[in-house]
Amino acid sequence: MKSQTEKILITGALGQIGTELTNRLVEIHGAENVVASGLDRWDKNLTTAGFYERMDVTNTQLVRQVIKDYEITTVYHLASLLSGTSEKQPLFAWKLNIEPLLQFCEMAKEGLLQKIFWPSSIAVFGTGIPKENVGQEVVLNPTTVYGISKMAGEKWCEYYHTKFGVDVRSIRYPGLISWKTPAGGGTTDYAVEIFYEAVEEGKYTSFISENTGMPMLYMNDAIKATLDLMAAPKENLTVHTAYNLGGMSFTPKQLAEEIKKEMPDFTIDYKPDFRQEIADSWPASIDDSVAKKDWGLSYDYGITEMTEDMLKNLKIKLAK
Ligand code: SER
Repeated sequence: MKSQTEKILITGALGQIGTELTNRLVEIHGAENVVASGLDRWDKNLTTAGFYERMDVTNTQLVRQVIKDYEITTVYHLASLLSGTSEKQPLFAWKLNIEPLLQFCEMAKEGLLQKIFWPSSIAVFGTGIPKENVGQEVVLNPTTVYGISKMAGEKWCEYYHTKFGVDVRSIRYPGLISWKTPAGGGTTDYAVEIFYEAVEEGKYTSFISENTGMPMLYMNDAIKATLDLMAAPKENLTVHTAYNLGGMSFTPKQLAEEIKKEMPDFTIDYKPDFRQEIADSWPASIDDSVAKKDWGLSYDYGITEMTEDMLKNLKIKLAK
């Protein structure tokens, strides 16, 4: 019999979400109950987890052993290839974004695990639907490698839940903005890069065109939402694919205006690259009323609060 204490494994723990989520989980559950994992070496400046396993999450045997050795009850499976990088490595993106998820679902089905969190994305939507206020139940028609993998992953989550009662929960994250750990290879990453360049260079060349709106979320709100979803009573959840999350919506031009309020000399120009086509296929804003109703989703940061907090923290970080 497993102990009742929640024992947590995080994959992709050194990534943009992973670093912040891991440290928050340590605050809640204690370092002795949190195992971080990733491809890179353990960087103790990045993670306060009590344990670290350097592992390739596609190595099923190794992952199973880790789950058994630590008597893991809950997995936050964050390891993933983002949208831009996935277009360049489609087969690897499919392998990484899907196979480990299925393995974790199998382990939960066998009773080795109790709960799984897996991130989906606004990339599931795609073309042929209205751009604004996109609802939970619209037709999914992703046109990117990343979006296809996330849509399939969502359907697998629902399948394992419906067929075998597996408790796997998911959120369609919008673009995530944070200052602690950079993202890598995403389409929404312009909204992170712009802050680094503003602080370091006073100017930024955006790879997304000025009037392209996308939904975005500040990391503090993303972590809060993730933990709230995981803590929600199972019987309250009505969505077993992935919950819509809207956060805030803005264009590169609007974000530049916000930065100018804090840094009047900041300038921006635009040179859209291949990621523009990806952005064009995604919604500009999202209806997240189901998440609000089912588990009380709420936000603390709008574009102004987020911009102030990003600039304040990056100025300190980059001065070091
Ligand atoms: N932020 C992600 C990306 O741009 C979307 O989920 O790839």
